[in-house]
Amino acid sequence: MSAEDQKKAAGYAAADLVDSGMVVGLGTGSTAAWFVRALAERKLDVRCVPTSQATADLGASLGLTIISLEDVTEVDLTVDGADEIGPGLALIKGGGAALLREKLVWEASRRCVVIADAAKQVPLLGAFPLPIEVVAFGHRTTALRICDALAECDLGVAPRLRVKDGAPVRTDGGNLIYDAPCGRIEDPAALARALKSVTGVVDHGLFLDLADQALVGGPGGVVRLE
Ligand code: 5RP
Repeated sequence: MSAEDQKKAAGYAAADLVDSGMVVGLGTGSTAAWFVRALAERKLDVRCVPTSQATADLGASLGLTIISLEDVTEVDLTVDGADEIGPGLALIKGGGAALLREKLVWEASRRCVVIADAAKQVPLLGAFPLPIEVVAFGHRTTALRICDALAECDLGVAPRLRVKDGAPVRTDGGNLIYDAPCGRIEDPAALARALKSVTGVVDHGLFLDLADQALVGGPGGVVRLE
């Protein structure tokens, strides 16, 4: 089974968790896109809160009812991908630069399900560079403060500004992304605290204690992790 087939299987399995009447959070990325397609095929009466403009566009093109997080006080179920799934369903997210809106929707959700292909499951977080969203104003000095925060956590690495086609990547909210090649994140909670304490850091891609369940596609089918 290819990685794409594994993502598709996980996305379709997650769509089975949705019932009519629900408010559903739609993640961002290639795996979440499979969930969005599978959900649209079910033609349920649901309202969907997208975590990015790209997902909003995809959902609308498939006939899903798209609303904003401002329209609700709570989301019933959010389904989203991840860049890494570590022990205890601790995650790295943000490879698609949507981490802030993703985290806002996840935190407003009664239940969060992460979907992924098998390669995303890791024994320790950190091989995937950790995305950190920062405000554009003063971002070079913010990056120096991020270095200090990483050093506090025994990570002697420097974050790199994410650039695409020669220009800094802008998030849907107009912020910038720095990626920190941590390598090994031994204490994700301590790192999360240190990064959040830096003025100019809007948020980071560590999603801790947020996922209730993972559906991981693999050669033998979809495996459920709680
Ligand atoms: C976007 C994300 C994505 O969920 C993550 O990057 C995984 O993407 P994909 O499903 O394409 O591998 O966090 O910000």
